[in-house]
Amino acid sequence: MLAFDSPDATRSQRLKAATRDSHGALDARIMAGDIFASRDHFARFLRVQYRFHRDVDALYASTALDALLPDLAERRRLNQVTQDLQDLEQTLPAALSAPLPSDLPLAAALGWLYVAEGSNLGGTVLYKMAAKLGLDADFGARHLAAHPDGAARHWRAFTAALDSVALTAEQEQQVIDAADAAFRSVHGHVEQEFGR
Ligand code: HEM
Repeated sequence: MLAFDSPDATRSQRLKAATRDSHGALDARIMAGDIFASRDHFARFLRVQYRFHRDVDALYASTALDALLPDLAERRRLNQVTQDLQDLEQTLPAALSAPLPSDLPLAAALGWLYVAEGSNLGGTVLYKMAAKLGLDADFGARHLAAHPDGAARHWRAFTAALDSVALTAEQEQQVIDAADAAFRSVHGHVEQEFGR
């Protein structure tokens, strides 16, 4: 079997392998925050998602990236996260740092988008759990609802495009570094919001 960190693996497989520990630690930290204990707890998670999606939002409006990746503009989730927060009568978190610019270098943009799009997969698990708080695609958990094509299919369309972008070896490393930075950034948002 092909190892996911072997040089023959696809870019998205290598990204998954390179960020496995980071992702595992983030999942564990979020679930340890007992986000389904109440709507107030869940709102902390929404605030993390808001910060993250605000950070990446401009990338979804980039015409250069749109030419490479499918349905980029409609993958944007900041609006849904904002509405989820408003459903729960939350104020929007203030910005602590500048969001990413729409002209971020290509390799870095791909790394951040890998993390943002991949988070939809875990999102489907969280969506089911949010039902016990009475939250769904129409109220409070809009941004976690799977795409009508199915989350897995929608993800494969993204990774197929991500995997086919031609990059130099140096850029390849930059994609991984950016995905790592994205995970670290989300960890930071969690510490910020869950410590409240
Ligand atoms: C904002 C926080 C999160 C981010 C940024 C994130 C990021 C990601 C990424 C990038 C992937 C794609 C992995 C791949 O390449 O296939 C993924 C998959 C997944 N995530 Fe998360 N995730 C987050 C929170 C969670 C949480 C809280 C859970 C806990 C239930 C979770 C469970 C999963 C699962 C089950 C998958 C799919 C299975 C797999 O292929 O590993 N995620 N997530």
